[in-house]
Amino acid sequence: MRFPKDFLFGAATSAHQVEGNNHNDWSEWEKKNAERLSKASGGKYPPENYISGRACDHYNRFREDFDIAKSLGHNAHRFSIEWSRIEPKEGNFNEKEIEHYREVVKALRERGMEPFVTLWHWTLPLWMRDKGGVCSKEFPKYFARYAEHVARHLGKDVKYWITLNETNVQTSHGYLKGDWPPEKRSLFKYFAANRYLANAHAKAYKLIKKHNPSAQVGVTELFIYFSQSRIKSFFWNHFFLRKIKTCQDFIGIDYYFSDRKEKERSEFLDWPIDPEGLYKIIQEVKGCGKPVYIIENGIADAKDFRREKFIKEHLEWVSKAISEGVDVRGYFYWSLLDNFEWDKGFWPRFGLVEVDHKTMERKIRPSAKKLTEIIKGL
Ligand code: BGC
Repeated sequence: MRFPKDFLFGAATSAHQVEGNNHNDWSEWEKKNAERLSKASGGKYPPENYISGRACDHYNRFREDFDIAKSLGHNAHRFSIEWSRIEPKEGNFNEKEIEHYREVVKALRERGMEPFVTLWHWTLPLWMRDKGGVCSKEFPKYFARYAEHVARHLGKDVKYWITLNETNVQTSHGYLKGDWPPEKRSLFKYFAANRYLANAHAKAYKLIKKHNPSAQVGVTELFIYFSQSRIKSFFWNHFFLRKIKTCQDFIGIDYYFSDRKEKERSEFLDWPIDPEGLYKIIQEVKGCGKPVYIIENGIADAKDFRREKFIKEHLEWVSKAISEGVDVRGYFYWSLLDNFEWDKGFWPRFGLVEVDHKTMERKIRPSAKKLTEIIKGL
């Protein structure tokens, strides 16, 4: 495997999944649904499994966690900013929280890690939820104001921005299946949400650039490799990206699985493991002529049986794409820590680092070292 000298290697997290003590649309949803989800698991997981609560206490332990990432050889890290902390009430910005994220960015820089900052990883302040969330006509205006506030304060220190995380996953769960907040089932609302998210991105893109003209701004979508259907691939992988094609500086790929049936499967949602699928996805986007970053790729594997192979094989395909001339510039494993996996709670274990959510003790998993070996070219 060969990677360019300045290739970025790291891991990713999101605020609600690791920080702890967030108060937003998801934390409210968890409180209402924990009992139901526990019952639906047949009692296998207690209601506490479904409450993010202290999560990984990363809000207080980010320096310690970044020390671990640094010790693993990472030179980049992706995290998200929690809107409900920055703007807990409409138009009321909390300077202390900006200061917190300034410290987070500084801690990364001090450890030689390039920050990749996500502005929306699905959660919303309660006031934004009450106005209709991403399906409100006003969403673009409010999101842009929040994005500008963050960019005004952190813009100079952050080069890479991901405005939105996986609009395709959030809007399909929130507005089609109706199993995630805000639990709607309406094609009309689904398309409206997509329209407003695209508009929100376009506005934020310009404002971030205003504060830092050399910023690189994009989104990331969950890509699935559909081996049989171009139509599915178009709607799932490319529909949103088409809408924003004039305002993105890079293509962000989150990739976990394909639709191929015969493959090995992950313990989480029975996802077919298909490393070659990542290569196929890279082929699908390379025509855009923009740099590509693998923003998420990972496996839930509590016993760490499969992760090492998973990382190695996916990176082999990335390396092949690079050797054929595709401009892939970074790879982020999902996730640095065992975190709160939305409606599944704490049981899926995606981390390079195991977390005991009671004691908050961290333990580096053996497979994390595989990524380190690859980073070091061993
Ligand atoms: C999301 C993460 C999530 C991961 C694993 C991605 O779709 O961005 O928040 O934890 O997948 O399911």
